[in-house]
Amino acid sequence: MSEGERVVRGAKPPLEVVIDFVRSSVGAKVIMAVTGLALWGFVIGHLVGNLQIFQGPEPLNAYGEMLHSLGHGAGLWVVRAALLAIVLSHIFFGLRLAAMNRAARGPVGYRTKQSLRTNTAAMTMAVSGIVILAFIVFHLFHFTIGGITELPPLDEKGRTDVFLMVFQAFKTPWIVVVYVVGQTLLLSHLTHGTVSLWQSLGLHHPVWTPALRVAGRALGVSIFAGNIGIPLAIFFFWK
Ligand code: HEM
Repeated sequence: MSEGERVVRGAKPPLEVVIDFVRSSVGAKVIMAVTGLALWGFVIGHLVGNLQIFQGPEPLNAYGEMLHSLGHGAGLWVVRAALLAIVLSHIFFGLRLAAMNRAARGPVGYRTKQSLRTNTAAMTMAVSGIVILAFIVFHLFHFTIGGITELPPLDEKGRTDVFLMVFQAFKTPWIVVVYVVGQTLLLSHLTHGTVSLWQSLGLHHPVWTPALRVAGRALGVSIFAGNIGIPLAIFFFWK
């Protein structure tokens, strides 16, 4: 198709349409919402897996071994790569959206009450996001890479002793504090995020939108309870 024909018909090549969408603020919002939903999924799945600690060493260590041997070991790396891409996109488009919003609001003197409120919400998300990122880096060094607390030897079946590793870690007070603080910021980020998530996806419904917000808060609080339940139960109650 010649350039002239394209202009007459008003049709853009599909790749250009995708690039324009990704560059637009609507596109950035949709990407934030979709990657945010995927991260919600990860956090729920991770918690469900971790809660097996309450069933004792065997199920948890077997679960850890299963994750490590997915697709003969390649599966875990595929999941890790996908997770990294999702996290990086979420951060990149979050920063881009914040810059776009700031530019759209104009100079400080002209800001309305509504735009100041939006600014406070964006600041809350940015601060909680940065702390969660720091928590994840700490967490990776703690349990996956090593170097923060001493990791136990393999269990009697030659598997990573995930149970003992987590148990020993959460007998240390400052580590419990780091996890509780990390989870508190995660709760704030998840609950604030869901408020804008449905808006960004263009899902408005007089009944469903408020109901989904309440469900998001309830799920966020359940994730928080489960995630802090593990370190607190181990620290205070397990012998
Ligand atoms: C008390 C709460 C948590 C516990 C007990 C826990 C436990 C663990 C353990 C034991 C591992 C290592 C698995 C292995 O290599 O065998 C792990 C990995 C990981 N955790 Fe958590 N976790 C918790 C909360 C979180 C949260 C809130 C996030 C994210 C916001 C998170 C993100 C990750 C990531 C990204 C990995 C690396 C997965 C991989 O590539 O191997 N965790 N966690």
